[in-house]
Amino acid sequence: MWQVVVDSAAATVELGRSLGELLANGDIILLSGGLGSGKTTLTQGIAVGLGVGEPVTSPSFTLVHEYAGRLPLYHLDLYRLDPEAVWELGLVEYFGRGVVVVEWPERLGALLPREHLWVDLQPGAEENERLVWWRAKGSRHRRLLKELRCRCASWALKRQVGP
Ligand SMILES: Nc1ncnc2c1ncn2[C@@H]1O[C@H](COP(=O)(O)OP(=O)(O)O)[C@@H](O)[C@H]1O
Ligand SMILES: [Mg+2]
Repeated sequence: MWQVVVDSAAATVELGRSLGELLANGDIILLSGGLGSGKTTLTQGIAVGLGVGEPVTSPSFTLVHEYAGRLPLYHLDLYRLDPEAVWELGLVEYFGRGVVVVEWPERLGALLPREHLWVDLQPGAEENERLVWWRAKGSRHRRLLKELRCRCASWALKRQVGP
């Protein structure tokens, strides 16, 4: 577990960009946190890091947006779904293809991919502050998180917590 504190939406985009630059085919990023916590904002940065040239918007109504970058990016927002609908829609077909980013991954229930990078965004003490918690499952996502921590060690982040 690792925590980063970001103090602006721009810092969250930067954090996402650093992650996006490190991503490899098959990586799965799960983003939890309430409405307005910054999940889509972080995804916008991930897209920039993947070399996506178009703006990323929330796929709340369409469930999935696909973007062409250095790798294909599949951006899923499951806010309006229950786990049965996820099953019926075959959304799991996306896992392992390109890079998959999922908002509201709790909705996946039993379909949650075993190996992933889980990112939880929580409001901080200040209005634009977010506490970003990271946890990796599986060796490749653990390696990814380690690389991100190395990159962010040299950052002008306000505060970093964790060993
Ligand atoms: N540190 C921050 N990180 C991310 N978003 C922030 C931050 N501070 C303020 N914001 C604002 O909060 C909102 C987050 O929206 P969004 O990324 O769509 O959240 P979510 O996808 O989690 O519902 C945006 O309006 C953004 O400008
Ligand atoms: Mg969103």
